Amino acid sequence: MRQKIIAGNWKMNLDLDQGKELLIKIIDSDLNSNCVTIVAPPYIHLNSFKMLLSHTNIALAAQNCHQQDSGAYTGEISVEMLKSVGVEYVILGHSERREYFQEDSIAISFKVKNVINHGLRPIYCCGETLAERQEGEHFITIETQIKQGLFHLNEMELLNCVIAYEPVWAIGTGETASPEQAQEIHKFIRNTIAKEYGGMVANNISILYGGSVKPANAKELFTCPDIDGGLIGGAALDADNFKALTDSF
Ligand code: PGA
Repeated sequence: MRQKIIAGNWKMNLDLDQGKELLIKIIDSDLNSNCVTIVAPPYIHLNSFKMLLSHTNIALAAQNCHQQDSGAYTGEISVEMLKSVGVEYVILGHSERREYFQEDSIAISFKVKNVINHGLRPIYCCGETLAERQEGEHFITIETQIKQGLFHLNEMELLNCVIAYEPVWAIGTGETASPEQAQEIHKFIRNTIAKEYGGMVANNISILYGGSVKPANAKELFTCPDIDGGLIGGAALDADNFKALTDSF
């Protein structure tokens, strides 16, 4: 079902004590309950966060997972393991994973399927680079990422996914896509899904925008008809900003 969502991607920031301190401030900040709120801290925080979040509406996400259930994959974490510490969502295909860890949409599609098979929800990221936008290739890039990463799913499985459009040139740069640029791509993503799965599926998927979202620009982005919320990096590391973002709908 299409929902308003604010998801904080903490990336590789904050040790466990610092993370708990931020989480407690977020819990105490009386978040707007009209949207789903999600925090995605580093793996090592997840188990203690499960306890801290047990009497709240805040959901827990992981920033990655492995596509196999168990085995000799040194350094990796399986979806079952994530599930055992209360994780409900898994961010997949973030541009930093694509760039620094050579993950492509086909490889990510296996992770997507594994997350779905275990009853968790992927937050599947897509987005073009600056060069791709300048060359006018952004639509084909997004279409390919969506098709390769998600179109192996059936309707019910796809409805369990959240999509995040994150133009690479806007991530951590202070540069935000204009509401018109973001809306154009969000509508394009929805149309791409509608062509394959029909309008009902397309209209029931939450599509988040990500890339330098902050309280000052959130409202105008979130009022666009096809933008259902945000995947937030830097601004999610401050409890006041995070609360203000949930108040931006
Ligand atoms: P940013 O990161 O808000 O710091 O630009 C967004 C993201 O990478 O998800």
